[in-house]
Amino acid sequence: MVGARRNVPLQPTCAMCIELFQLRNKVAIVTGASRGLGKSMAMALAEVGANLVLVGRDKERLEGAAREIADFGVKTLPVIADVTMAEGVEAVVSRTLEEFGKIDVLVNNVGTYLGKPIVESTLEDWHNLINTNLTSTYLCSRAVGRHMVERQRGKVINMAAALGALGANNASAYCASKGGVIQLTRALAVEWARYNINVNAIAPGTMETELTKAMLEDPAVRKAVTGKIPMKRTGQPGDLAGVVIFLASQASDYITGQTIFVDGGFSIL
Ligand SMILES: NC(=O)c1ccc[n+]([C@@H]2O[C@H](COP(=O)([O-])OP(=O)(O)OC[C@H]3O[C@@H](n4cnc5c(N)ncnc54)[C@H](OP(=O)(O)O)[C@@H]3O)[C@@H](O)[C@H]2O)c1
Repeated sequence: MVGARRNVPLQPTCAMCIELFQLRNKVAIVTGASRGLGKSMAMALAEVGANLVLVGRDKERLEGAAREIADFGVKTLPVIADVTMAEGVEAVVSRTLEEFGKIDVLVNNVGTYLGKPIVESTLEDWHNLINTNLTSTYLCSRAVGRHMVERQRGKVINMAAALGALGANNASAYCASKGGVIQLTRALAVEWARYNINVNAIAPGTMETELTKAMLEDPAVRKAVTGKIPMKRTGQPGDLAGVVIFLASQASDYITGQTIFVDGGFSIL
């Protein structure tokens, strides 16, 4: 007997279970892949066989990441683009289709953070956060979605944040933008379920990347942050490897519209 959607056996054997997580010959676009969580997720996808299109603005860093990831024996294509701009995003999609002819997975990872009381913030601060975190996700999903809808298959993985579902001090634009990502995930999941496209989100807690480096260098802040995490440690980029492979692979075929919190329990308190 087979499952209705992608021939998933109802009672898989162990070998089949491992096969469920393979991404051989798949093509994945990861935005913001030159460093941090994006680079780490791209590496994880490469380890299970996916060819990678890496997107970022800093040419040198992006090409360096592409060389490292190619060591896994997959093809990599670095594309320089600002994903807050529609033209940049369209160029990423056309370069990918020229090179690989298809897109199986889109990881909308680009994002940034701003810690500022709202009364001290400017309209420019607000627009920058919303454009980088939410509009980029809209633009990439729209452009890649046209191709996935036509193919009637695909996996979209959006980078939310635990703070997209919680309140936090001096983080109103960030919380609003990531809350928007969670809602965009749910709405697109409904819109695209009929096309066999899964749309899910990952919501990390505090992870050790360049984005959080300065903040976590202050021992008092680090202590306060880890004190609020039941597992008593911040996350490492590698902590997202399992979840991104799961959401990109056949193993998650019957899951859509969900946000998976990867935060050491931070969001459950
Ligand atoms: N770190 C955390 O604790 C944490 C927690 C929750 C959620 N997140 C989310 O996870 C994602 C990744 O975070 P991170 O910590 O890895 O951040 P990061 O270290 O600052 O990396 C951001 C990446 O995005 C790229 N980028 C930024 N703006 C871009 C744009 N407009 N167009 C194209 N590329 C762009 C950067 O490269 P270039 O500058 O070269 O373009 C870089 O590769 C973000 O969405 C963030 O909000 C992070």
